[in-house]
Amino acid sequence: MKYAFAGLGALGVAGMIFIASSVTSESAQAADLNNGQAQFQTNCQVCHGNKGWGNGPAAAGMQEKPANISKKLNSIFQTDAKLTQDVMGGKTGMPAFKGVLSKKDVADIFAYIRSINP
Ligand code: HEC
Repeated sequence: MKYAFAGLGALGVAGMIFIASSVTSESAQAADLNNGQAQFQTNCQVCHGNKGWGNGPAAAGMQEKPANISKKLNSIFQTDAKLTQDVMGGKTGMPAFKGVLSKKDVADIFAYIRSINP
């Protein structure tokens, strides 16, 4: 049990280092929250809802429910890179945004979602 806790602690530290390093690399290209908001409202909100919680007007009739983007962004089991890939490639019930949005647009959307879900 002692070892299990030590392992969790190590994971936590690794996670924090990861978050810290991804914040630094992101800030090299500052997020544009206005662009994030505009792109989100145009391309995502109908399914994911105004806060990204997965409860947009289109969600009710959908078999595969839209994800809570805010939760996904905060999950230690997900990375922004993987989530960006999913948005670009599409998933069950979600169209692919490759060719519609750039990676920077998606990063701006994620930054916007983070900003409205403190
Ligand atoms: C037509 C409805 C629809 C639109 C529009 C849509 N999504 Fe989704 N989205 C979904 C559904 C449904 C899922 C859940 C798919 C699954 O779990 O297999 C999802 C899942 C996600 C996930 C989680 C992916 C994962 O790996 O768990 C993210 C992040 C996401 N969407 C972001 C976005 C962003 C950003 C946009 C706008 C650029 C967007 N979505 C537009 C329906 C939509």
